[in-house]
Amino acid sequence: MNDALDDVRDHYRATGLTERLKSALTVFGPENEPLTPQQLGTLDQFHTRGLAATAELARLAGITADMSVLDVGSGVGGPARFLAATYGCRVTGIDLSEPFVDAARYLTQRTGQSEQVSFRAASALEIPFADDHFDAVFLQHVAMNIAERTRLYREIQRVLKPGGRFATFDVVANGGEPHYPVPWARTPTTSFLLTADATHAAIEQAGFRTLVSQDDTETAKAWFAQMRASGPPPSPNLGVVMGPDFAQFTTNLGRNLLEGRLGILAAVFENDSPKAGNHLENR
Ligand SMILES: C[S@@+](CC[C@H](N)C(=O)[O-])C[C@H]1O[C@@H](n2cnc3c(N)ncnc32)[C@H](O)[C@@H]1O
Repeated sequence: MNDALDDVRDHYRATGLTERLKSALTVFGPENEPLTPQQLGTLDQFHTRGLAATAELARLAGITADMSVLDVGSGVGGPARFLAATYGCRVTGIDLSEPFVDAARYLTQRTGQSEQVSFRAASALEIPFADDHFDAVFLQHVAMNIAERTRLYREIQRVLKPGGRFATFDVVANGGEPHYPVPWARTPTTSFLLTADATHAAIEQAGFRTLVSQDDTETAKAWFAQMRASGPPPSPNLGVVMGPDFAQFTTNLGRNLLEGRLGILAAVFENDSPKAGNHLENR
């Protein structure tokens, strides 16, 4: 793997994560008692607006029970578990961070969803699945860690069936240098932001057609303002995953949005690019 990926992996190293989660989750009862995906919602949705954002993106993408979904950069697996529980679809998550993958498997076992939801350690730049494999791909708050955007979006296009949906929810550059640290990077070394327009251009160039595009910046600002007004976050929260600095990371993201340095983009695309085989068949 190259240096940039190693630096990103370091940021999400999360030593001892599964043990920390085990002890944080004792608030919900003994380990042999099943948990619901909703109970985990305050600590397993690692993106702006948490569970509400995942629910909205899933609705925009038109997820249905018969779909096979890939979550790229699946974190500790909250979005994957939510999609499976809500729609009945099968979900596979891949993530660069092995501790996150271990934690995602542990939490999925606790919610009793291991038959429907699985995780694997892998890079978004080398997705370990065959061409035309998935009906939908999710990418939430991941692209800002990836410098090679053309390669990223081409990999996603490759594993999607023709006509498949690609749903993305990401932080975008908006005309100012961000204050660091932020949730995805302690310094600019692991942050590779594009503007919303440049993100669209890169995705369309990879063979996608835009179905929905939403500037979610104002909604995100309102969410951060409400969080600040409502005092300390409910426990357990993402501090268990990212450590005590997480409060500072989140404060800075809110400040970057309020100062117009960053924005939030939610968008859904259709795989519009005929694969070589299909192209020949269609002639
Ligand atoms: C901010 S978290 C978002 C996690 C999850 N998508 C969610 O919304 O809950 C970013 C995740 O992307 C993963 N990631 C970053 N770069 C990656 C890459 N090149 N390949 C796979 N995963 C990556 C990180 O390990 C981390 O789990």
